[in-house]
Amino acid sequence: AQSAKESLYVVSQYAAAFFVKQLWETDEGKGIGLSYFKERGFREDILKKFEVGYSPDVWDAMTQSAINSGHKLEFLEATGLSIKNDNGKIYDRFRGRVMFPIHNFTGRIIGFGGRTLKTDKNVPKYVNSPESEIYHKSNVLYGLFHAKKAIRDLDNCYLAEGYADVLSVHQAGIENVVASSGTSLTVEQIKLIGRFTQNITILFDGDAAGIKASLRGLDMILEEGLNVKIVSFPDGHDPDSYMHHVGAGAFKTYLEENRKDFILYKANVLLKDAGNDPIKRAGIIRDIVESIAKIPDPIKASVFIRECSSLLEIDEHILLSELNKMRSAKL
Ligand code: GTP
Ligand code: MN
Ligand code: MN
Ligand code: MN
Ligand code: MN
Repeated sequence: AQSAKESLYVVSQYAAAFFVKQLWETDEGKGIGLSYFKERGFREDILKKFEVGYSPDVWDAMTQSAINSGHKLEFLEATGLSIKNDNGKIYDRFRGRVMFPIHNFTGRIIGFGGRTLKTDKNVPKYVNSPESEIYHKSNVLYGLFHAKKAIRDLDNCYLAEGYADVLSVHQAGIENVVASSGTSLTVEQIKLIGRFTQNITILFDGDAAGIKASLRGLDMILEEGLNVKIVSFPDGHDPDSYMHHVGAGAFKTYLEENRKDFILYKANVLLKDAGNDPIKRAGIIRDIVESIAKIPDPIKASVFIRECSSLLEIDEHILLSELNKMRSAKL
């Protein structure tokens, strides 16, 4: 007999196929879901590659279809695809949303993200699958299955925030991209990338939340010993919107020309806030040296100290002694 865990993969695969069929073959799916993707500028080959779909805007269409095909409610519930309310009534978690299946890195579907098509502020923009026996959010990177070969070949991994970013960057012909979707970056996710490359280039949103998230991610990546660069986007743009705004060719060039070393990026972001206030500037210098102190390789760290010294116009020896103080405090 099939193990319970295997049954969760099977119902997830069933649901993904159901959502795909809805998107391409039903009036509702085509009229609402597919036209939404088209309006956002997504090409059909990209939509097919990522197996995106549409969940009908009714109570329990997916659940009923799965049960009629012989799948057990028990397993549908265990994946969070079907939910039983207090009155015992069953309904679909995802309704009236465009669906992004989440694959593990061997290519099996383990969960979903569903984006609303409504503009109502009270409706959450994304609904994600809950944790289950097959889906552990903190260990998963969206898009890794489709990106892993390119990540290895190109020895770099672009790290974006969202599902749409991954699709759009792919559409621009750049396949070494994943997203942390739905969680802030975790150590497990960084270790996962580390199996394929030691180089990460962060493509987080240019808004305040995105900048904060990338700074938070930074120290974690450094601690894992990976190299990190950053590309930031003009105000209000994320990788997805910027790609569609400027087109594939210009987007590719932008990534190549605006890749900054983390240290310059972090220093610039922080210095902008500080202005000429010497106390604030001293705090920033400490903050940056603290990041450098997280780099396990002392030779790499010393290179950053030198760069930092010229950028901040601070004597290298002062920075080095600060670095050593922090390192010995950590021991
Ligand atoms: P689009 O508007 O479709 O381009 O999505 P986005 O990916 O640009 O959204 P945003 O930058 O706001 O969020 C980045 C990622 O955070 C998304 O891809 C989701 O994974 C997650 N996220 C955003 N909004 C929500 C939400 O309301 N609930 C949950 N659980 N996750 C969200
Ligand atoms: Mn698949
Ligand atoms: Mn954002
Ligand atoms: Mn975004
Ligand atoms: Mn977006």
